[in-house]
Amino acid sequence: MSLTPIGAPRQKITTASLREKKLRHEPITCLTAYDYAAARLIDEAGIDIVLVGDSLAMTMLGHENTLSVTVDEMLHHLKAVRRGVKNALLAVDMPFGAFHVNPEASVANAIRFVKEGGAEVVKIEGGEKRADLIRRVIDAEIPVAGHIGLTPQSVNAMGGYKVQGKSLNGIEQLMRDAVALDHAGVAFLVLEGIPREVAAMITQEVSTPTIGIGAGPECDGQVLVFHDLVNLSFHSPAKFVRHYGDVAAEITQAVQAFRADVAARQYPADAESYHLPKETAQALETVLERKRAVRR
Ligand code: KIV
Repeated sequence: MSLTPIGAPRQKITTASLREKKLRHEPITCLTAYDYAAARLIDEAGIDIVLVGDSLAMTMLGHENTLSVTVDEMLHHLKAVRRGVKNALLAVDMPFGAFHVNPEASVANAIRFVKEGGAEVVKIEGGEKRADLIRRVIDAEIPVAGHIGLTPQSVNAMGGYKVQGKSLNGIEQLMRDAVALDHAGVAFLVLEGIPREVAAMITQEVSTPTIGIGAGPECDGQVLVFHDLVNLSFHSPAKFVRHYGDVAAEITQAVQAFRADVAARQYPADAESYHLPKETAQALETVLERKRAVRR
């Protein structure tokens, strides 16, 4: 498989092109983004799916978990990301509470993400029990991504962040979840925190592309939280995280260098300062000279 060179013209990624990639066994790439700058760089680097994840509760807002982030906060970040994304498929998480009250309110929230935020896909956490709701949202012409396994919005119900599908019962439940969401018509299915062997079975079984995070290499694609990828997360990384850069170290180094330069009056230099036009400088000098003469 050849990678499109960075900066080369690219085709817009759609839910249909993801399915084609699965059929061609071409790995699908997905990263989270929460702001314009990162979204733009990620999109220009050729990533297929940009996800405004509810992980922004932690990465951008400093919360303990994803539970407190609201629809309005998600929309605020989605709008910024929308302005940075051209070719990637833009997906957004429906946050905790946005699809739990009743189907009408859930569809209304999904519509806000499309209408106000420009999302192309909304992601809904949960397995077979969410299948009917997912159908309702798809009926409203909104593509939906599923998310099963270790679903962070269920942290209290699960009693912590635990790898799912380690027992035979657990595997059966995950297979039922995956098949139910596949039949409901999800555009892609995120598999989080499940054994590699189970993710491989699901990927074989379903027609929708699977995107893994902590689910091994046999998934149709992989997703990482952008802040984990570049080491900007302030917590010890999960087993599956690979740091592809060290932005925390870069920022610390830059900030310390700025602080030292200001302290030593090394910043700004003359070349980094604005200057008066020659005539104004001369006129000013004349005025000052007159004032000095009056004082003498
Ligand atoms: O919120 C998020 O970042 C996610 C990804 C980890 C899949 O749901």
